[in-house]
Amino acid sequence: QAITSYYYTTPEEARLLLRQRERFSHKGSFGHALLLVGSYGKIGAGVLAAKACLRSGVGLLTVQAPRCGYTVLQTAVPEAMCRPDTHQYVLSGQSEIEGLPYSEFSAIGVGPGIGKAPETANMLRTLLSEFRNPLVLDADALNLLAENRELLSMVPEHSILTPHPKEFERLTQKWENDYDKLEILGDFARRYRIVVVLKGAHTAIATPEGDVHFNSSGNPGLSTGGTGDVLTGVLTALLAQGYDAIEAAVLGVYQHGLAGDRAAEQRGQIGMTASDILETLRWS
Ligand code: APR
Ligand code: MG
Repeated sequence: QAITSYYYTTPEEARLLLRQRERFSHKGSFGHALLLVGSYGKIGAGVLAAKACLRSGVGLLTVQAPRCGYTVLQTAVPEAMCRPDTHQYVLSGQSEIEGLPYSEFSAIGVGPGIGKAPETANMLRTLLSEFRNPLVLDADALNLLAENRELLSMVPEHSILTPHPKEFERLTQKWENDYDKLEILGDFARRYRIVVVLKGAHTAIATPEGDVHFNSSGNPGLSTGGTGDVLTGVLTALLAQGYDAIEAAVLGVYQHGLAGDRAAEQRGQIGMTASDILETLRWS
């Protein structure tokens, strides 16, 4: 039996998960996140993830992107520090830039816009061999895992993977029906001791214990390019702040969907964009 129990994230449950800020807190209290994002033509994915991370309470944010993204990121996201990769167009990701190795960060998010260049596969290999804190893995980071399966067992326990159904199928197998899909989801999360966020309407979050949490917020207006990149930023911020992977996934997915519901009120499902949900994210 792959699935232990099913849960449904209610507004009340999300409210209980959210931590209030202490009066004497400072930016060191909320972690230093690193986002490994972007490639030529897809720097925007990194901008969305970075803005979402900052809108989700991270203390400090560093973004590592290929050199071609440097000016764009510094202009679009002045709150973030940016460290240019040695490579011009894709991430090749040597660990230590300016004296800060991967291991110094509270949490790392990797994937939005990165592409699947061989240099980027090497970057992922280095990251997984050096970083022992939890990671958020999304988009082409997941496709690289699917194509280099030996990397899967190197993913730190209690990391969060955020596949959409196609990415999840590449990581696992084709399913017969929705029940079958949930079994495969529970098995996968258990086998690798990770949290798997299978995205879609009613996103399903599987835990390392094989529980599944269904999300209740969100709407089809979220079916537009870039909303997944926003989710990666949200989840990375929550891990950096010390939420455990299950709390971060349940709370982050709920708040992301709720931001989508607010954006749909303002712009309608058809008119809303991923940038709109950066403005409607609200943590209270
Ligand atoms: N109802 C509720 N939520 C939805 C719905 C829906 N009908 N449709 C989509 N969503 C939400 C998902 O739950 C998820 O949070 O929108 C988000 C979509 O994320 P992705 O599928 O990753 O989309 P995107 O942001 O465009 O990804 C950017 O990365 O994953 C690759 O191939 C992808 O090129 C694309 C890029
Ligand atoms: Mg995506």
